[in-house]
Amino acid sequence: HTHLEWTIDWEKQVFHGHAVVSLQAQPSSQGVERVVLDTSFLDIKKIEVDGTEVKWHLGERIGTIGSALSFDLPRKVNPGEEVKVKVTYSTTPQCTAVGWLDPVQTKSGKYPYLYSQSQAIHARSMFPSQDTPAIKSTYSAKVKSILPVLMSGLRQSPPPEQVLEPGTEVEYVYDQPVAIPSYLIAIASGELVYRAFEQLPGKKWRSGVWTEPLMMDKVFWEFSEDTAKFVATAESLTSPYEFGVYDLLVLPESFPYGGMENSCLTFVTPTLVAGDRSEVDVAAHEISHSWFGNGIGCASWSHFWLNEGWTTYCERLLMRELHGEPARQLSFIIGRRGLKLDLVLQKDTPRFQRLVVDYEENEDPDEAYTQVPYEKGSNFLLHLERTVGGLDHFLPYMKDYVRQFNGTSITTEQWRAHLFHFFGNQPDGQEYIRALGKVDWDEWLHGSGDDLCVNMQYDDSLAKPCNELAERWNASREKNAGEGFASSDVADFSSTQKVVFLEKVESYHALPADHVAALDKLYGIDKSDNAEIKLRFYQIALKSGPEYAKQAAAWVVNKGRMKYCRPVFRLLHKQAPELAKKTFLEHESFYHPIARKMISKDLGLDK
Ligand code: BES
Ligand code: ZN
Repeated sequence: HTHLEWTIDWEKQVFHGHAVVSLQAQPSSQGVERVVLDTSFLDIKKIEVDGTEVKWHLGERIGTIGSALSFDLPRKVNPGEEVKVKVTYSTTPQCTAVGWLDPVQTKSGKYPYLYSQSQAIHARSMFPSQDTPAIKSTYSAKVKSILPVLMSGLRQSPPPEQVLEPGTEVEYVYDQPVAIPSYLIAIASGELVYRAFEQLPGKKWRSGVWTEPLMMDKVFWEFSEDTAKFVATAESLTSPYEFGVYDLLVLPESFPYGGMENSCLTFVTPTLVAGDRSEVDVAAHEISHSWFGNGIGCASWSHFWLNEGWTTYCERLLMRELHGEPARQLSFIIGRRGLKLDLVLQKDTPRFQRLVVDYEENEDPDEAYTQVPYEKGSNFLLHLERTVGGLDHFLPYMKDYVRQFNGTSITTEQWRAHLFHFFGNQPDGQEYIRALGKVDWDEWLHGSGDDLCVNMQYDDSLAKPCNELAERWNASREKNAGEGFASSDVADFSSTQKVVFLEKVESYHALPADHVAALDKLYGIDKSDNAEIKLRFYQIALKSGPEYAKQAAAWVVNKGRMKYCRPVFRLLHKQAPELAKKTFLEHESFYHPIARKMISKDLGLDK
């Protein structure tokens, strides 16, 4: 169990207080005499073990890995015995997990705001812990703040039905009775309000959304239709939802990811609020993590694909329920292109092209963040689905996988052993095993290179019109810009299909700049504020020349989601390096510390 007590100091932008880490010596151990905890940029004040103060040592800092906090226990802890380690400390302004916003960066401009992002290894910059997904703990927290505090657990006080008010100091009490890895412990505080989604009949869990008051109407509309439905559908594919509450928190623009599956409280970027519910797949994704990642965890970041590959696979099953099998196939088509681009980007680091990543010592997992675990992972599962004869055969297996491993953290080898065990025990066991034996396991799990090892085929009925239109643009280079095209070309396209069309255009060599401008106007991209569409457009435009550089720079300064800001900054850097650097340096404080570090690296500004 981990217990946290913090007071939020908004002036100094730190938390101060203590953490009580309850540790049990492994029953299989020889007993324990010395403890080592992960920390990063923490200001340690005092350590007490079961009430006795002990001397401690803070090791030298190793990059993002941080500094090992070690101490001898006052007496040997025998196998199976427990100790309570109380660390009094405060975070520091260098904390890499927490983004702090000034009032001007919020919607109302009235109050400051903070939020955390701990995955993969930033929890250690908020509290000392064994910061590895291998270890799960329940947690509780008491946090004093002048603004409403949300955490990734169940609120005990003020009681859940009470409306939270900003302005006066309140102690917020949370409890997470399900054991979770450290990276799922999350906090946000700011001017935040709640609206519940309609309760589904027969369900014990409740679901709703948190955001800033001025965002609520739009946000509620965007997610109220699908969120609880996705949770219920995911339950029918796996097992009952066990966290009691599934809430979304829609954050300010600087949030560095599309979504983060913090237990009970998924954090999402406001770019999902597109006004047409076209980005709900991200909610389907984070909901799927409730079983894949939060339920069954990866035992180390090398096996991260078990989280993201399974989650992406499950997300697409949920989208299938909503929009049918062709829509699921279209998601795989889009994902495949993202995968290829990332594999090319990683050509000098083949270890990051592998499904099971071979980390070097002290490497920061954020540096290995690519589409590989998502897309190679979900394609591998799709390949296995097809190998065993389709969903009728694969879905019962998926349920059994959840039943077998929920609540634990596992390796790829454990996953594979269970797969063979499950299918081997079916009535037609030998046939399944023969089929599975033909899979190139080593190539899928440990192969590198610039594409999948199997030429996966997808139903392209929804992608076809997009690709055909792109081909027409490709063939129009010799004609006048826009000649032969009309806004009606894309009138029947969904947002996703527009993305497919734009990506296909981008895959050809650069279009002439006047053609790019014609495409922009004709298809109303200039008027769109759908970030998925804008991103693909700027990828086309910045490939052609510097014409759109200023516009892209103006667009990116409030895009904290790394999926958008990193590629746009990288392309800007190619077309207009000075503008790229100047834009970033002027707006550096807007970005979350993780994004700040990654963009600096991409722009060659590494400090
Ligand atoms: N857990 C991830 C985000 C993450 C991964 C943060 C690794 C830090 C380290 C989250 O579930 C995720 O995958 N988000 C995606 C959503 C998309 C795949 C639908 C994102 O942010 O783009
Ligand atoms: Zn994910």
